[in-house]
Amino acid sequence: MATNQDIIKELRKSYGMELETVENYLANAIDLDGVRAEEIKKALLSDIEEELGHARKLGNRIKVLEGRVPGWLDLERAQPFLQPPNDSTDVIAVIRGVIRAEDEAIDQYKKLIKMCDPIDLVTQDLILEITGQEQAHRRQFIGFLYEYERGEAKRLTAAAA
Ligand SMILES: [Fe+2]
Ligand SMILES: [Fe+2]
Repeated sequence: MATNQDIIKELRKSYGMELETVENYLANAIDLDGVRAEEIKKALLSDIEEELGHARKLGNRIKVLEGRVPGWLDLERAQPFLQPPNDSTDVIAVIRGVIRAEDEAIDQYKKLIKMCDPIDLVTQDLILEITGQEQAHRRQFIGFLYEYERGEAKRLTAAAA
């Protein structure tokens, strides 16, 4: 069975993942160009607020469990797929990167949900709430992908004709 220390370790990792997501959503929200990017930039900016809120809640929970909240030097970087694309109008690359980041967050939280059962149901409750919000972010960007990929498909067809 998982211990309190195991849970703190995964909470620290999750905290770092949230902050890295904030950094990369912010970079893309500023860096993207073009009319097609406008809605994506707005969605990213509003998600940043939620991701930062997640980091704050995770940090508070680490503190309550008597863990230490990590600074930058103790945090990993794991999102090479979410760097601003070379082509600053490549909205689809950013949409795909966001979906992957949300998938990875959801996987991490599912792991925590299992670990918390039955030793820490308060942490589990917090993680369940955050997971629901990550699923909503993911679904929003899946919707963007439906629309934007169809657009790209049309463009490619026209160019080939
Ligand atoms: Fe988050
Ligand atoms: Fe998210």
